[in-house]
Amino acid sequence: MQHLKLKAFPEDFLWGASSSAYQCEGAWDEDGKGPSVQDVMPIIPGNADWKVCSDHYHRYKEDIALMAEMGFREFRFSIAWPRIIPDGDGEINPVAVQHYHDVIDECLKNGIEPVVTLYHFDLPQALQDKYGGWISRQCIEDFVRYCEVCFSEYGDKVQYFLTINEQNMMTMFNMGGYKNDKDRYQANHHMLVAQAKATIRCHEMCDAWIAPAPNITCVYPLTSSPMDTLAAMDYDQLRNRLYLDTIVFGEYPEAFKVYLEQRDAFPDVTVEDMAVMKAAHPDFIAFNYYGGSTVKYVDNEEGMKAKAAAAKEGANMEEFMTGMMTEPGLAVGCSNPLQEQTSYGMGIDPVGLRVTLRQLWERYSLPLLITENGCGVPDTLNEDKTVHDDYRIDYLRKHIKACQEAITDGVDLMGYSPWSAFDLVSTHQGIKKRYGMIYVDYNDDGTGTLNRYKKDSFFWYKKCIESNGEDLD
Ligand code: BG6
Repeated sequence: MQHLKLKAFPEDFLWGASSSAYQCEGAWDEDGKGPSVQDVMPIIPGNADWKVCSDHYHRYKEDIALMAEMGFREFRFSIAWPRIIPDGDGEINPVAVQHYHDVIDECLKNGIEPVVTLYHFDLPQALQDKYGGWISRQCIEDFVRYCEVCFSEYGDKVQYFLTINEQNMMTMFNMGGYKNDKDRYQANHHMLVAQAKATIRCHEMCDAWIAPAPNITCVYPLTSSPMDTLAAMDYDQLRNRLYLDTIVFGEYPEAFKVYLEQRDAFPDVTVEDMAVMKAAHPDFIAFNYYGGSTVKYVDNEEGMKAKAAAAKEGANMEEFMTGMMTEPGLAVGCSNPLQEQTSYGMGIDPVGLRVTLRQLWERYSLPLLITENGCGVPDTLNEDKTVHDDYRIDYLRKHIKACQEAITDGVDLMGYSPWSAFDLVSTHQGIKKRYGMIYVDYNDDGTGTLNRYKKDSFFWYKKCIESNGEDLD
């Protein structure tokens, strides 16, 4: 609908930006840190590794000062589990515990609310070696113990914790490398139980609010055919609702459960697991949003063929990608001719953000926090150390406008925390794919001074925050 007048952003709206430990800290083996699964993964040729990144571990004061200059009211960062407990389940590392106290204190000193993700893709490698990571039930207990350390250390000064970043992406893209769907969904189930237990322990141990942090999007049917509409509904369960119905209602979405059961892929679930999931109640929903998803229906036979083509020796890129995006008998992901894209092929869909906000609010009735959204593209650092990133400003402006429209629709939106405050290393495309409003002089070949420079988007976002979202020009 078109609003004739927009509501103002709430006075206490959390303006800020996000990051994750392994993508920005560097210092990968300093002060007793253990390796994470990310540290041992082969680096894609041409990309920076995780050893230095933005060197935020050493430069966090400078970074937080720059964020304060932009007027940030929150900063979302993650604590590295393998820093706090280097082998995942053993001794606690006091140097790491102190480091995050220092980061949190620095934020608070600058009037910035820390929003702390407990786990952002960096499982301690020792647990992967010991029992295969999340496929083992033991990982639930080890994760909860690690969270308890964080709640007891930081729970009196952190107001917002996030449990697991993008569990849905880890599962959908089989980041654990599981050999079949049953194992993939078993590991996923263990994460759901771990998240529920951590949520309960947070409430028992401190006054903080806690939320899940999946990557959520609205799902469009490619055509108006009834089967594509059904495919979009089913895909919504697989991609979104599986991760939110389980934590908010303590239940697996029914149709998706049947889908997995018929394919022998539904995990082993105990009565106690479901009781824990029912007993956990998140205080809000944090979610990352990058663009809409578009799907069309595919039957089981065609879907299986696409999967087989992707798995065969010598499969080409198209076969591989189609296979990755196919769920036999459910849906296949498609590109959307009506959606704009960045140079890296990521969708630009601010209206999809408003749709997503509406869907989440109307389904779960919990306050919402956008914990990622952003424009990852190469930037040019000019000789005078300026960066003219009008494309990023345009992206942010449109998405912030969509937030205001959703607020006017009635959505309870707590804040906007795009990816990212300063440049950091992308999950798969190196540091050349830049998201920050602060340029970090570092290159994929390891060269660069690591100096920070303010991009045009820095000044634009500062003005936006100063005006509480009114001045977007
Ligand atoms: C999210 C992740 O998927 O998107 C981040 O939580 C990630 O870790 C971000 O960096 C952007 O994706 P990418 O692949 O461009 O780094």
